[in-house]
Amino acid sequence: MPSIEGAVIRKILDSRGNLTVEVEIRFGKVIGRAAAPSGASTGAHEPPAWPKGGVDKAIQIFRSSIAGRLKGRDVADQAGLDRLLREIDGTSDFEKIGANVATATSLASAKVAAASAGKPLYRYLAGSGRPGLPLPLGNVIGGGRHAVGGTTIQEFMVVSQGPTLQGNVFANARVHQRVRDALTKKLPDVPLGRGDEGAWIARLGDEEALGLLADVCQGVEKDLGFAVRPALDLAASEFFRDGKYHYRDTTLTQRAQVDFVEHLVRDYGLFSVEDPFDQEDFGAFSELTKRVGARCKIIGDDIFVTNVERLRRGIELHAGNAILIKPNQIGTLSDTRAAVDLAHRSGFATVMSHRSGETTDDTIAHLAVAFGCLGIKTGAVGGERIAKLNELIRIEEELQAGA
Ligand code: PGA
Ligand code: ZN
Repeated sequence: MPSIEGAVIRKILDSRGNLTVEVEIRFGKVIGRAAAPSGASTGAHEPPAWPKGGVDKAIQIFRSSIAGRLKGRDVADQAGLDRLLREIDGTSDFEKIGANVATATSLASAKVAAASAGKPLYRYLAGSGRPGLPLPLGNVIGGGRHAVGGTTIQEFMVVSQGPTLQGNVFANARVHQRVRDALTKKLPDVPLGRGDEGAWIARLGDEEALGLLADVCQGVEKDLGFAVRPALDLAASEFFRDGKYHYRDTTLTQRAQVDFVEHLVRDYGLFSVEDPFDQEDFGAFSELTKRVGARCKIIGDDIFVTNVERLRRGIELHAGNAILIKPNQIGTLSDTRAAVDLAHRSGFATVMSHRSGETTDDTIAHLAVAFGCLGIKTGAVGGERIAKLNELIRIEEELQAGA
């Protein structure tokens, strides 16, 4: 039985310049390493990323209460390790150790297990299942919590649907570049910058930004000969107050918000729309799904927070037809997988996702392939984003060679 010989933790930087952690788990010469990302538009039902006392406290807890208990454990027993993390924490949602230490430890353990079995992570985790390549969702124009002075809607994305993953990644980057050209033409005297996820920041109205992106998508679609569609993450909980949605230039009632999102889905041919409503409003998710669920993925992020209990409620109410999957929203690989399995069993699609604060860790690329997710949301450009995209390109090549 390959057993864990040691585990270390260190402080590293994330892409926003904040401190985060990475964990290394060792078996002989084999090392599994994983880092934790963090969000800016975190859902109210997410566990805390850090214990009270922050990153330093998390490191202290790891060294005093976790590392020693990992030693000697079977690296292949992921479920047992994840149960142990919950037991050490002792609360229902990682309040004591923080979800980020749990996530990094859980993923590092899976990686050392895969490496000691001589397999890439995606293949190890796929088991007897067939690995599948996801559609990349690339963030092109960004606002909300990810960009100062930009749109109210958080993410205007592109989803290219050509015959290869590599071609889709390149097409998304091409859209990102052409949107830069379109923005400099439209706003010639305004400096152009990028937000936390590498998307352009533009002081445009929300529908104006979507119109500009949709036009660029159409042009690229024509050039390449396959579908290139826009998609949105509204992150609507961030601008929902006192029963209303507060856009920079307008305010909408809850009922008007459903009509507005329906209009965007229909008139701009959206591939998907994420968090179009407040995280407690299962009713509005159900209504939109009834109206446009057949033509568009209605994705829940803050509403489901990768949590099977909240997802189960959403499935019963037909509140959406897809779930965003963020491992550090739930804290362990086993719980992440449980959410994916429940979604797939229930006819919900899954989209694996980065966080706005990322590292160059590429584990989610492997998870998306292993679990057969429909999509992966991990930006269009930027070092910490292309770390995942380029890894997906390598995986595609490997799968093609093995096919
Ligand atoms: P976050 O945003 O990582 O800042 O939470 C990403 C998202 O809302 O999907
Ligand atoms: Zn989101």
